[in-house]
Amino acid sequence: MIDLRTDTLTQPTAAMRDAIARAEVGDEQKREDPTVIALEERVADLLGQEDAVFVPSATMANQMALRVLSEPGDGLVAHAASHLLRSEAGGPAALAGLMVEQVPTWDGRFGAEELRALATVDGDRTQSTTRVVSVENTHSNCGGRVWTLAQTRAVLDEARAHGIRAHLDGARIMNAAVALGVPAAELAGGFDTVTICFSKGLGCPFGAALSGDGARVERARRVKQLLGGAMRQAGMMAASALYALDHHVERLVDDHRRARALAAILSEAGAPVDLAQVETNFVLIDAGARGLSSADCIGRLAEAGVLVSTTARRDVVRAVTHLDVDDDDVTRAGAAIARVLGA
Ligand SMILES: Cc1ncc(COP(=O)(O)O)c(C=O)c1O
Repeated sequence: MIDLRTDTLTQPTAAMRDAIARAEVGDEQKREDPTVIALEERVADLLGQEDAVFVPSATMANQMALRVLSEPGDGLVAHAASHLLRSEAGGPAALAGLMVEQVPTWDGRFGAEELRALATVDGDRTQSTTRVVSVENTHSNCGGRVWTLAQTRAVLDEARAHGIRAHLDGARIMNAAVALGVPAAELAGGFDTVTICFSKGLGCPFGAALSGDGARVERARRVKQLLGGAMRQAGMMAASALYALDHHVERLVDDHRRARALAAILSEAGAPVDLAQVETNFVLIDAGARGLSSADCIGRLAEAGVLVSTTARRDVVRAVTHLDVDDDDVTRAGAAIARVLGA
């Protein structure tokens, strides 16, 4: 079976397990874990921010960010299919008390105009004031789409002009950086808070970080305690993240190349894919165009030996390349999917 459901499925490599086993550890909750501290410094540097805090998951990092950027009753503008709105159990409402305005674009990106149209910036005291805008780069539910520097800047400039704070859900920011050939710090620059995740394309078993300025990250550490995310000998997990930053970033180009190769095989066979959508490691397949529901398509492909998963779009499924998928897997998966969905 070739498992292309998502990039969180990767198994830690032998070398990563070795790095985990050798990690120097201490009590993270007491800020005595040297490996966690080293990772936090590395992430702050990588993302061009003052400080960073290590957390178990990108969900926690996103929700901590919203808590430190806003007050209950404030407004949040985010993409309608963003992870933060769709897959974090209602966190913006439950944990930060935010009113949400959803941007409904097709590819996960939006501009100053969409932000302007949805934001309430000079309302009276009866209104919820837009305090935060969130950008997801790459955008997972829209097929791993990349926000370019110019697109990011346009939204950040509009936000700044109206006193709106900006969060970057950069769970896959390294995919974006590698795809654009731009340092992650540039893509993260200008955001008040930035999430990065280690358990996706970077191949770790666990972990994410939230970065921002020193005062905000210190407040985020308190929210992390509140949410039960403060840990003990977490250096074992931080060691896997440090290992991944050393060894698994440059290889993301291979995942992107394989996603394009898979899409090309499918397109040549007349299967319903849009080559232009494939900017990183996600390939969207329009099962509906073949008269199939997502569930039917997933079932048929599983019988053919390939696992894919649903997306936020009705009857569109996705195939995701990752560390545990090689060129041969792509060739075989392409042939199997083409047999089921080809013209
Ligand atoms: C864009 C994005 N943000 C956040 C998350 C949450 O990550 P985690 O599962 O580590 O909480 C995901 C997970 O898939 C994601 O795709």
